[in-house]
Amino acid sequence: MNPVETLLTESDNLTSLQSYLLSEEDKHPDATGRFTWILSAISLSTKFISDKVRRARLQDVLGSLGSQNVHDESQQKLDVIADEALIRCLRSRNSVAIVASEENEEPIIVENYNQGDQRPYVVLFDPLDGSSNLDTCCGIGTIFSVLEHDRRSNNPKESVLQPGYRQVAAGYVIYGSSTVLVMTTGSGVQMFVLDPSIGAYMLVNENVQIPTAHKSYSVNEAYIESFPKSYQNYLHYAHKNGYSSRYVGSMVADVHRILVKGGVFLYPPTEKAPEGKLRLLYEANPMAMIIEQAGGKAYTGTQRTLELQPTEVHQRVSVLLGSSDEVDKVLSFLE
Ligand code: AHG
Ligand code: MN
Ligand code: MN
Repeated sequence: MNPVETLLTESDNLTSLQSYLLSEEDKHPDATGRFTWILSAISLSTKFISDKVRRARLQDVLGSLGSQNVHDESQQKLDVIADEALIRCLRSRNSVAIVASEENEEPIIVENYNQGDQRPYVVLFDPLDGSSNLDTCCGIGTIFSVLEHDRRSNNPKESVLQPGYRQVAAGYVIYGSSTVLVMTTGSGVQMFVLDPSIGAYMLVNENVQIPTAHKSYSVNEAYIESFPKSYQNYLHYAHKNGYSSRYVGSMVADVHRILVKGGVFLYPPTEKAPEGKLRLLYEANPMAMIIEQAGGKAYTGTQRTLELQPTEVHQRVSVLLGSSDEVDKVLSFLE
C-alpha cells in the first residue's frame, strides 16, 4: 500500500457536491454550467439555513413572526429567513428566470424581459417544510424543484404551471441529526451529508434505492374519521397485519425515513382539506420525482402525481408515495 493510502482511510470521502456536479457536467459536452449554478445556489443557501436552524434558539429566531402567509398559516421567523436566503442566492444566478415559493403569493420574475434576457430555468421551493416543528427540534427541511422556463406562454408565470414529469431536477435538504441533501436530475438519486468541519456536502450514496416493501405507514391518524372510506379500510388492514406507524409531521422527515427504510407516506383528502393539504408544485412533485427515481411510486390518490397538470401555483393535492409494493397495497383499496 503506498504511504498516502495509509494516511487517507477508506472512509475519507473526497467527493463533494461541487466535484460531483462538475464531473456530471463534464459528461455533457454541450453543458453550459448554468444548471450547475442553480444547484450551487441551493447548496449555498441550504448551508446558511442549516446554520440558522441549528442556532435558532440561541439567536432568538424561533417562533412565529405574527404574520400569515398566502395559505393563512402563521409564518415562522425562520420561514421568512429561509425564503429570503434562497431567493437572494437564486436571483444572483444568471440562469434563473422565475422563482416561486410557498411563502410568496405570486411567482417572482427574475428575468429582465425588456432586454430579452434568455434565462433557461424556473425554481420552485418550500423554504422550510415542517416549520411548526422547529421549536421541538424535529427534522425539518427545504424542498426544491427545477423546471425549464417555458417562454412560449406570454404570461411568464404560467411557466411554473408545468406537470411534474417536466422537472429537470428535484430534491430536498433535511435539517435533522445531520444535514442531508438528496437530489435527482433524472438519472437516479444521490445523497450528500454536510460535513460542518469543511462546510461541504459530501457524497454518501450515488444511487439511492428505496426498499420495495416495508410494513410501515406514515399518516396523521388523528384525521382518520375524515379520510375517505377506502383509506380507512387500508388503515384497518394495516392495523391487523403487523404494520408499524411513524409520523413526524414534517413531510421531509417522514419521506426521508421512507426513502431510507421503506414504507408508505399518506396525506389523504380530509374534510378540512378536501383536495389534500400538501402543495403540488413544491412538495408533492419534487418528492414524487425523488421517490420514482429511487424505484418507488407516487400518486395523488389514483393518479400518478407527476402527470397531474397544475392549474394554480399553490394548489393542494393528496399524497400517497413510498415503496412500490406498499403503494400498490394502498391503491388496491382505492380502486
Ligand atoms: P409547511 O411547514 O411547509 O407548511 O409543511 C407542513 C406540512 C408537511 O410538512 C407535513 O407533512 C404536514 O404539513 C403535516 O400536516 P398535519 O400537521 O396536518 O399532519
Ligand atoms: Mn411544507
Ligand atoms: Mn414551508
